[in-house]
Amino acid sequence: MRAKIIGLGSHVPPKVVTNQDLSKFVDTNDEWIRTRTGIEERRLSDENTSTFDLAKVAAQKALERSKIDPEKLDLIIVGTTTPDTLFPSVSTMLQDHLKTPNAAAFDVSAACSGFNFALSTAAAYVESGSYKNILVVGADTLTKYLDWKDRGTCVLFGDGAGAVMLTSTEERDRGILASVLGAKGEGGKHLIMPGGGSRDPEEKNGRFITMNGKEVFKFAVWALEHSVTEVVKKAGMTLNNIDLLIPHQANIRIINHVVKKFNLPESKVYVNLQKYGNTSAASVPLALDEAFSDGKIKEGDVVVLAGFGAGLTYGANLIRW
Ligand code: ACO
Repeated sequence: MRAKIIGLGSHVPPKVVTNQDLSKFVDTNDEWIRTRTGIEERRLSDENTSTFDLAKVAAQKALERSKIDPEKLDLIIVGTTTPDTLFPSVSTMLQDHLKTPNAAAFDVSAACSGFNFALSTAAAYVESGSYKNILVVGADTLTKYLDWKDRGTCVLFGDGAGAVMLTSTEERDRGILASVLGAKGEGGKHLIMPGGGSRDPEEKNGRFITMNGKEVFKFAVWALEHSVTEVVKKAGMTLNNIDLLIPHQANIRIINHVVKKFNLPESKVYVNLQKYGNTSAASVPLALDEAFSDGKIKEGDVVVLAGFGAGLTYGANLIRW
C-alpha cells in the first residue's frame, strides 16, 4: 500500500510587505536582503488572522479538489509551531471546521520541517493499513513572533499555509516511495522562541525568534544535501531520477549551495521564496501547490520535498506523482 497525493491547496494573507517597506523602520535595504537571501517580498497576516485562519482555506481547497467525502476522512495532521493556542490543536479546529467527524487529529511540532514530518507520518499510517484518507497541512504565522528591531531575523519570514490530501493506492510505484527524518537536538539553541512555553509562561524572556544565522545556515546546507541524498538512495534511485526538487524556501544561497553540489539544472528546482520569504511549515506545501498549478509536475514525475528547521530538524519525502 502507498499514499498518493490527490488534492492540493495553499493560502497566503493578502498584505504584501516589500524589502523597501521594511527599510522604512529597520536598518536594512532591498539590495542586502535580495543578495543575502533572495527574498523580495513576504505576506503578513493581520491581528485578526491566525494560523488556523490560513490553514482552513488551504485545507478546504485540498479537500475539495480531492473530491473525498469529508465523512471519509480518517486523520488530519498539521505541521505548525505557531498554533492559535497551546491547546486545542490547529488540527482539531480543522476537524470541526471541515466537518470531518470521523477523523482523528493532531499537530506535529518540527518548525520549518513540520510539513515533511507530518507527510512522512501520514504515509506510514497509510502504508500500515491503519488509515486510508489523510489530510496533511503545513501552516505558520511566524511574523507574529518577530522582533521588528532585529534585522537579522525580521526580514526573513512570512506567513502562509499549504495542504495535501492523501489516499491509499495499491500501486507499488506511485505516491510517497521514501521518507527520511532526522534531528540534531544539540543545535536547538541556535534557533529558539524562548518565551511562552512551560519554562517561561509569562514570556519574561520575550516571545521573539532568536537565531544564530551562521550556525543555522551551516546546518541547513548539510541537512538539505544529506536528506535529499538519503531519500533518493532509500527509494533505490539516483539524483538523476529527480524531475523536481522542492526545498524549504528559507534562503536562495542555501538552495544554490546544494543545487550546485548536485549539479541539478535550474529547471529541476522550484523556488518561490522571492514572493513569500520563509513561511516555515507552509513553505514546502505552498511551493508544491504552486509548482503543480504552474504545470511543472506531470504524472510519473519524481518529486523530492526537503526541509530543515528549528530543533534542529530535517526531513525529506520522495514522491512518484
Ligand atoms: N540588512 C542589512 N544588513 C544586515 C541585515 C539586514 N537585514 N542582517 C544582518 N546584516 C548585517 C550584519 O549586521 C553584518 O554586519 P557587520 O558585518 O557590520 O557585523 C552583515 O550584515 C553580515 O551579517 P551576517 O549575519 O554575517 O550575514 P549572513 O551572510 O550570515 O546572512 C542570514 C544572514 C541571511 C540570516 C543567513 O545567515 C541565513 O540565511 N541563515 C539561515 C537562516 C535560516 O534559514 N533560518 C530559518 C531556519 S528554518 C526555521 O525553522 C524557522
